[in-house]
Amino acid sequence: MCGIVGFVGESQASPILLDGLERLEYRGYDSAGIAVINDGVMQVEKTVERIKSLIDETQNGATVKGNIGIGHTRWATHGAPSHANAHPHLSGNGKIAIVHNGIIENYLDLKNELIAEGVKFVSETDTEVVAHLLQKYYKGDMLDAVKNAAKRLEGSYALAIINTDTPDTLYAVRHFSPLIVGLGKDGNYVGSDVAAIIKHTKDVVYIDDGEIAVLTKDGAKFYDGDGNQIEKPVSVVDWSINAAEKGGYDHFMLKEIMEEPEALRKTIEPRIKNGEVYFEGLKLTKEKVKNIKRIVITACGSAYHTGIVAKYMFEEILRIPVEVDLASEFRYRNPIVNSEDLVIIISQSGETADTLAALKEAKARGAHVLSIVNVVGSSIAKASDDVIYTWAGPEIAVATTKGYTTQLAVLYLFGIYAATLKESCDKALIDELISELSTLNKKIEKILENKEEIARLSKKFCTDDSVFFIGRNIDFAVSLEGSLKLKEISYIHSEAYASGELKHGTISLIEPGRLVVALNCYEALSEKIYSNIKEVTARGAQVMATAFEGNEEIKKYADEIFYLPRIHPLLCAAVEIIPLQLFAYYMALNKGCDIDKPRNLAKSVTVE
Ligand code: AGP
Repeated sequence: MCGIVGFVGESQASPILLDGLERLEYRGYDSAGIAVINDGVMQVEKTVERIKSLIDETQNGATVKGNIGIGHTRWATHGAPSHANAHPHLSGNGKIAIVHNGIIENYLDLKNELIAEGVKFVSETDTEVVAHLLQKYYKGDMLDAVKNAAKRLEGSYALAIINTDTPDTLYAVRHFSPLIVGLGKDGNYVGSDVAAIIKHTKDVVYIDDGEIAVLTKDGAKFYDGDGNQIEKPVSVVDWSINAAEKGGYDHFMLKEIMEEPEALRKTIEPRIKNGEVYFEGLKLTKEKVKNIKRIVITACGSAYHTGIVAKYMFEEILRIPVEVDLASEFRYRNPIVNSEDLVIIISQSGETADTLAALKEAKARGAHVLSIVNVVGSSIAKASDDVIYTWAGPEIAVATTKGYTTQLAVLYLFGIYAATLKESCDKALIDELISELSTLNKKIEKILENKEEIARLSKKFCTDDSVFFIGRNIDFAVSLEGSLKLKEISYIHSEAYASGELKHGTISLIEPGRLVVALNCYEALSEKIYSNIKEVTARGAQVMATAFEGNEEIKKYADEIFYLPRIHPLLCAAVEIIPLQLFAYYMALNKGCDIDKPRNLAKSVTVE
């Protein structure tokens, strides 16, 4: 996810662009840039630092004159953070500048077409393709050029465009990525969301997919994808500026939970083609995948928990041993790893010190290292033999949510990919898993519609006492993450237990009123969890259970049940974790905790 902003009006553009980018920095922060036209000349300034350094380098825009410009803060998807890859990108003749939020999925085909026509590229990005397409289609009518270029694009984009041949006009177009127009007194604005422009105006126009906006200092006109002028209603924003930076949510954590369906769609959709899983550019050959004898997964915290989930799924469909280890342990235990092994490293930030060290241990022992990372160009991504990115966008809250579920999604995809090549399970199962993955985002949307029920349960069970999360098989793996979420943001002590272990000691802690969260989506073992629920309720525990819709049996045992849309049991973790993320969020809210920045924690643990 990136942030884009644009302005045309009476005022100097640069200070407005830089202020807008600061308010969009939560959308991406690995590089940034602005392009401004002054007296028909384009000036572009970029940085691979934070926005602050661009402000310092341009003396808050004083060195970049002009009344029309665009700006961008980047969350790298194609091409690591670098000056060349930072936006704005220019057409070959330097006359057209663009900024882009989204992913152009057919950029390689378009790039090859343009190279064949003699176009020279200077970046690795998908976005640069659009700048050259605009030059190709510009024959004196810029609206026409925007319309024709947009028709060639597949994927998601919100674009802001300026052209030195039309120095009084700013163009914008969107498809699947957010874009709004702000109508101000001294000029007009475009932005990725309200945060970018709310300081200047609350009169906004929400652009719909395929629509084009044409702004001048006097106003804005709107067109459909065929270039027909259309009328668009003006809305008045009722957000405060600080709420806007969180997209209207009280906390980044809730915003990021609500973004999970879209993050999953972006992570899964491009990797399923013609009913098969497809990874672009893996060095890990299909032959090597077929012959993998063992998989070792190592990570920290929530990323480690996704590895536990993967163990159950991989061993079920690949029928090879899967070992999962904490990176902080793996790195110091002289691990038995060799060139026959595939080591999977999981990390949202791509900068966790223990995980990076574990990666180096694995490489030193000859293993092929595949990492699953959210931050493009991060240390772990760069050090790996292969990297499969989660397209979750920047995750600001310390407690990971969309990072966790998109890691699961990539693990599911890889498991299916490997099982297909190894022919290690029925094709019918493969097809069912792919079909279920394709609708995972819709299932989570349905759960989120019911988030107030979780808020109610958090009030009913609000406690300062320890809370137990129990489950078996994949439900046990999910209980680990549910427990961590609660601990790290509400400071309520909690333990996760394989429910078969309770009678081996822990059940001594169960006393009247103790809250036990019993996870029951892995239905093959439901009878066992029912017995475990009876064991704890017999000692006075309160039980909140998860279950799939239609499960009536659980009502005999649990005090409260949170029902979930049914999904294949091997994929149940990705839906079952959602109510637990929300439960932790609302428990912390009830207690007045600093949800986005919990005490003692950092978003990325780059030290041992
Ligand atoms: C999860 O909510 C925590 N923030 C923490 O456990 C985190 O998952 C762990 O530090 C690993 O971080 P990484 O995924 O960036 O490597």
